[in-house]
Amino acid sequence: MNADDLSATKTVKKVYIVTQGCQMNEYDSEKMGDVLGQSHGMVVTKDINEADVLLMNTCSIREKAQEKVFSELGRWRKLKEKNPDLIIGVGGCVASQEGDNIQKRAPYVDMVFGPQTLHRLPELYENSQKAKSVFDDKTKTKNRIGVVDVSFPSIEKFDFLPEPKVEGYKAFVSIMEGCSKYCSFCVVPYTRGEELSRPLDDVLAEIASLAEQGVREINLLGQNVNGYRGEKDDGSICRFSELLHYVSHIDGIERIRYTTSHPLEFTDDIIEAYKTLPKLVSHLHLPVQSGSNAILAAMKRNHTIDVYINQINKLKAIRPDLHLSSDFIIGFPGESDADFADTLNLAKELDFDHSYSFIYSKRPGTPASDLPDDVSLDTKKARLAEFQEVIKKSTFAKTEAMVGQTVRVLVEEKADRYEGHLHGSADNTRSVVFAGGEELLGKFVLVKITAAKSMHLVLGELVSVLD
Ligand code: SAH
Ligand code: F3S
Repeated sequence: MNADDLSATKTVKKVYIVTQGCQMNEYDSEKMGDVLGQSHGMVVTKDINEADVLLMNTCSIREKAQEKVFSELGRWRKLKEKNPDLIIGVGGCVASQEGDNIQKRAPYVDMVFGPQTLHRLPELYENSQKAKSVFDDKTKTKNRIGVVDVSFPSIEKFDFLPEPKVEGYKAFVSIMEGCSKYCSFCVVPYTRGEELSRPLDDVLAEIASLAEQGVREINLLGQNVNGYRGEKDDGSICRFSELLHYVSHIDGIERIRYTTSHPLEFTDDIIEAYKTLPKLVSHLHLPVQSGSNAILAAMKRNHTIDVYINQINKLKAIRPDLHLSSDFIIGFPGESDADFADTLNLAKELDFDHSYSFIYSKRPGTPASDLPDDVSLDTKKARLAEFQEVIKKSTFAKTEAMVGQTVRVLVEEKADRYEGHLHGSADNTRSVVFAGGEELLGKFVLVKITAAKSMHLVLGELVSVLD
């Protein structure tokens, strides 16, 4: 290494990024690293102690996540005491909701930005370098003031993001931002703004570029992807089912997933797409939240259980091998024993492949936060445990039922813990480990499953290579 290279490596700044919450945040965090890489040559580090910039991409969907933000920031303060030049940034939904309150509570935070302004990070970082700094006796840190941007500048974020770069064979592509459904319990419409779809050509160009870099599986991302209404070149509107057709035509992409969708917009044209598009995986994540019509109404989900069951039945008629997963909220205000029994029965009837379930968390500013809640926390906890037991049983039963079957697997990486083995994912999201050489990385293969190791992990033997 010559002297020039050496001085270059010395000045390379390192950014450490912590992500809370959803896949949208995972996607955004990656983009944060990308924009700072492009603008300031920063590299992402996994070692917090060598970082020059610390970023926290926060989630406010439930209270617990929000509490963690400030406890983690407390730890970061200690690092800043030792290194006054450290820059601390808070982004994501807590930042969006709290704005400059974050700096009131944690004055050592230098930058605050929302999910829709992360592309402005380079500018915020520049401003933080120029901002007046004062030493705060209380926190014992050097604090910079007022670098806050939590606005919702329409969809401009995507126009400023660098070309996507990938390492693996699976990638997320955000197709829309925000949500306009306003479920009565949910903060997302307030923290991420109303629904806004990316133009069709932008989405397709991003996916084509990912495919050229070796990506085989695409997960179309958004709070409510089936509400996608992207503008086409000629000014007309592209619906989600049409987008699926376009994505299916991109060479190299063999598996298409999407998260998350809403039953209200899970329309027949989307169901029909499963007939004609074999690349659409036979796995659907469709949150239902509750099995009780009264609770669904109070949640402002605007559909009944029959509508949901009918949609699933229609899809199962096309794809009998469908793997179904969902989200549930247990203990919504006013949930009676009978309402909860309805939720349990729905879980048993639909026999979910897996599911996420949470105790209702009161979110400030949402309509549900004003509802009287007479269900005790103990009851809610007991209901959640009972519900999760049902889900666990069906998840495990489905994993065990894979034994003896031959399934399609995307080979993703060498399996760390099994010498000479590879690790991949089946259509139903299970992890599959089998013996094989590195030449199979990035290929789809058929694997005969020989054993279930845990709820989500199975072992198998290679049968054949698809492509
Ligand atoms: N866009 C998705 C949901 C995004 S939030 C949809 O269509 O439903 C992810 C999940 O978090 C939700 O499905 C819900 O089950 C859960 N969730 C959202 N707000 C919540 C709250 N206040 N308390 C508990 N769980 C919540
Ligand atoms: Fe939240 Fe309902 Fe939208 S759960 S993200 S408001 S669909």
